[in-house]
Amino acid sequence: MRHILSCLDLSIEETKRVFEIAFDLKKRIAAGERPPVLERQVLGLLFEKPSLRTRVSFETLMHQTGGSSLFLGEDVGWGKREPVRDFIPILSSYVDCLVIRAKRHEDVREAAEYSQCPVINGLTDISHPCQALADLMTVRELFGKLEGIKVSYVGDANNVAYSLGVLCNRMGVQFSIAAPEKYQFDQKSVDELTAAGKDLFLQTELAEEAVDGAHVIYSDVWTSMGQEAENEQRLADFANYQVTETLFAAAAPDGKFLHCLPARRGEEVAAEVIDGPRSAIVQQAENRLHAQKGLVVWLLTEAGSK
Ligand code: CP
Ligand code: NVA
Repeated sequence: MRHILSCLDLSIEETKRVFEIAFDLKKRIAAGERPPVLERQVLGLLFEKPSLRTRVSFETLMHQTGGSSLFLGEDVGWGKREPVRDFIPILSSYVDCLVIRAKRHEDVREAAEYSQCPVINGLTDISHPCQALADLMTVRELFGKLEGIKVSYVGDANNVAYSLGVLCNRMGVQFSIAAPEKYQFDQKSVDELTAAGKDLFLQTELAEEAVDGAHVIYSDVWTSMGQEAENEQRLADFANYQVTETLFAAAAPDGKFLHCLPARRGEEVAAEVIDGPRSAIVQQAENRLHAQKGLVVWLLTEAGSK
């Protein structure tokens, strides 16, 4: 049974295969073809936190491919109405695949242990692998390649930054991050982020240094879901880390802006950047649909499921 809780759960070859399926099915949908590659498969979405992109892209991809989906919010009682050891084996006996968005990564890991079907991480406090797949799919579309590309992330070393960094490293993309010291990756994360190549990674407090020659500048909110009590402190600590047009002066001339969304204009990114010609956020968000389609199709038809 394969579970995708992190980008580390896919080998480099498997990741490339997921992209291959994703690009192929994206091309086919543009040509008006919706091959029923997941006919009668059922995906369950178990979400403890709000979502637009993750929820709707997973539900849509199932319907486009001949399957169906069930959205399960907090009312189903995961870990509250009954213990995980009762809840998850039963839920996973009804559906063919589960996407779980949880407050604690540990809870998704525990759910995967009890699950009878593959589990995909739909975001936790630690990682967001589906986002990273869509991000690198977008980078490849924007630049026609991944080799020689540099992605620079400005802001909190959070779930999105971690998955993006891991996937960049595995795909041979240079990754740098600028954050105040207390919000940088710890040594364990740095080891994971550099497992496929140490010279591809840079962590610094200086935004200008991180974005030097970058093809992509990426940002995410300074305060993630669940960290609301720290919001005021974070606004002060990250005040010098806004992505502005001025910061882009240090990037490659054709540098693009990416953001996982939702965004806060005037905080992590200036409105002129996110709403300007460099911004590829809509294409990036659309690719959530295609990248995850590649992942689910691979997981249920090639990697083996139940
Ligand atoms: N980027 C992302 O995961 O968006 P949602 O929180 O809306 O799913
Ligand atoms: N880092 C953000 C990402 C939202 C998609 C959060 O966890 O809230």
